[in-house]
Amino acid sequence: MEQDMQSLNDFNVGQGTRPLAGIPLVRLPGSARASGLDMDARRGLSQTPKRLPPKYFYDGRGSLLFERICETPEYYPTRTESALLERHACGILNQVAPGTLVEIGSGSSVKTNHFFVACERAGRYCRYQPFDVCDEALRAAAARLKHRYPWLDMELLVGDYAVDLLALPHSQGPRLFLFLGGTIGNLNHEEALTFLATLRAAMHAEDYLLLGFDRIKDKRVLDAAYNDAHGYTAQFNMNVLRVLNTQLDANFDEHQFMHVAFFNEDERQVEMHLKARCAHTVTLARIDLVASFARDETILTEISRKFTPAGMKALLEAAGFRWCRHEESDNGYFSLALAAPA
Ligand code: SAH
Ligand code: TRP
Repeated sequence: MEQDMQSLNDFNVGQGTRPLAGIPLVRLPGSARASGLDMDARRGLSQTPKRLPPKYFYDGRGSLLFERICETPEYYPTRTESALLERHACGILNQVAPGTLVEIGSGSSVKTNHFFVACERAGRYCRYQPFDVCDEALRAAAARLKHRYPWLDMELLVGDYAVDLLALPHSQGPRLFLFLGGTIGNLNHEEALTFLATLRAAMHAEDYLLLGFDRIKDKRVLDAAYNDAHGYTAQFNMNVLRVLNTQLDANFDEHQFMHVAFFNEDERQVEMHLKARCAHTVTLARIDLVASFARDETILTEISRKFTPAGMKALLEAAGFRWCRHEESDNGYFSLALAAPA
């Protein structure tokens, strides 16, 4: 294990497939995060209102901060979804009998443990293809998983789920695609429809999709979940400014901004903003851009849409899926939907 960790730490990210303590890592075309950032930052900071795509939160530090958010008492989605998976992983595995789990936006892969434990109990093993934009998170998760489940055959996929779904390397079917954490809510309606329809096109008739989605609920619960008292969510939100400073040679000053997150009841979405505390300008030297901020001007950094089961069913059906199974927590805070190609 010591040696495993060492070679993981020494792993130098490159093009193509490179061995990672015996675990292959495939870089899909959309993995070139930095090149997209040039254009996204230029476009997003030149428009009104300003906005940035959420995938840039997740460098190594951002992924660690997200793990901290998941452990806060206010952020109910992780523990609620985890309890649902613990209760239903076995039943879902029986229903799907997957040869491979493909997890989209896998992050730390912590909740996926419930499936691996269920595999061990059933004596039926499957392959695992975690797919994430953050290679640091993938490599750290793989090291932990290899240690805990030596039998687990993994292939790590680095890429962007907005562009790489049709380029996923195939694996032993049936495949169970996992898209957990309410991440579907980070896409607006059109993006979510395109994402699901593209995933549907990449799936075979015998494959399934397990989707975790967050539910509409009391505004106070939602506001608290995205404003944890410890301030991890604020740090996470600010992290995107550090990414811009590092990658684009920018001079954002975190102290000039504040974290603002609230549930917009009309839009049924949590909105996360960075709000300028005073009027100032920021230079992004590498892309030759000067961004001016008025006092109180905001950058929209993330939306997190909340759903009803009926709304999610309609979305899945519009994307060519059939709704097969629905599990929800007793308090109705969070849901899992199992869907298959219609
Ligand atoms: N599934 C985990 C993590 C959710 S956070 C959980 O439920 O806790 C969202 C994850 O999606 C992060 O790991 C982030 O790195 C990844 N991600 C965000 N945008 C992405 C994109 N465009 N393509 C691939 N992965 C992305
Ligand atoms: N998928 C998560 C969600 O919508 C992402 C998330 C949680 C997040 N907390 C955050 C994104 C704080 C930005 C800032 O709940």
